Amino acid sequence: MSCCTAVRCRGRCNRVCLCRNAATVACTENHSESKYIDLEENLVQPTTLTLRRIDDFHHHFRVQPTLQQVLELLILYCGRAIVMPNLANAVLTAKQVIWYRNEFINILDWLAQGRSFMPLMTIAIQDNTTPEMVLAAHEAGAVAGKVYPLGVTTNSDNGLREFFTQNMNDVYRTMKDCGMKLLLHGEIDAERTLTTQREDAFLPIFERLVNENPDLKMVFEHVSTKNAVELIRQMGPNVAGTITAHHLVDTLNDVIGTGVAPHHMCMPVPKHYDDRDALVEAATSGNPKFFFGSDSAPHAKEHKECAHGKCGQFTVPHALCMLAEVFEGQGMLYRLEDFTSRFGANFYGLPLNEGTVTLEHVVWEVPPTYGDFVPPNAGKLLNWRIVST
Ligand code: DOR
Ligand code: ZN
Repeated sequence: MSCCTAVRCRGRCNRVCLCRNAATVACTENHSESKYIDLEENLVQPTTLTLRRIDDFHHHFRVQPTLQQVLELLILYCGRAIVMPNLANAVLTAKQVIWYRNEFINILDWLAQGRSFMPLMTIAIQDNTTPEMVLAAHEAGAVAGKVYPLGVTTNSDNGLREFFTQNMNDVYRTMKDCGMKLLLHGEIDAERTLTTQREDAFLPIFERLVNENPDLKMVFEHVSTKNAVELIRQMGPNVAGTITAHHLVDTLNDVIGTGVAPHHMCMPVPKHYDDRDALVEAATSGNPKFFFGSDSAPHAKEHKECAHGKCGQFTVPHALCMLAEVFEGQGMLYRLEDFTSRFGANFYGLPLNEGTVTLEHVVWEVPPTYGDFVPPNAGKLLNWRIVST
């Protein structure tokens, strides 16, 4: 390594240092030397990054007026998103699928701006969902059914209680037959189980679902633990996992480590450093089983900053910037497009998006609010910014 080599700390500070001898450099955060990567081959840092327009395979849009606020931010960089069905009145039927999609179409028509965006509709699978409801929803254009186990997150009071009844087995078989994907919120609210253990507690249910429905395509949503990453890795190609931007950045310490940080609170809750490391490794590894789903979840400021705050991180304004920073920190920027714009589309059997999105490498400060919503990193600095078009 030559004199005055640029090196970047691969720890959280992600700091670029110019130094005489990279072997002995230490950043102010005291990350170890082994965490530095040599940028010598890339001394002129990329100043822009252009990717194929991305897919977000897990997004909470809500209803108007939030729906429009979210769409305006998302369509700047995203061509399609899986639309989560957990509205206050869950999307359960073909009729509701058509109504909800029309809400999108009306706003998109009104926004126009020449950008294309396709909402990928879903229904919630509950105990009283029938195979007939699944088929009708599929005919109405739903591409997936989402299981929220009872009581694990926002609007899951009517979540699934029994995973293996005859009716549910028929529902899964019907989904497989018509090509609908089964999306799983992979947590269970079991007795004497802390929220940090809920994902691990769900893994035996997940294994049984996969074993009994080997041909049904399943997505383990917002993976948050090392154990889930390892299990998904071992499973066949019909099983995949989405990973959020915030689970690549946060640990439990960001939520409750130095006081309660309501805008970092989400389900599943971010966990240990080892879990975060496993997620970063999975996302940047080039394994097509792992792709991006933001789980961006808007809750108005007053519903976050209160005695019983709602769960969800509002990452839609800059999830892609967060991802670029994480991938860059690992020296894996070249794999970002696979994670955001290729692996998920392939899994869902969709053509790749047309068009591109460009980011510029510039330090900027995240604004305190976007409308009624506060992003988790309000007031913090980011290294990448979407170039407005
Ligand atoms: O934190 C979360 N918020 N996790 C979820 O699973 C749902 C989401 C929401 O809808 O608010
Ligand atoms: Zn979600």
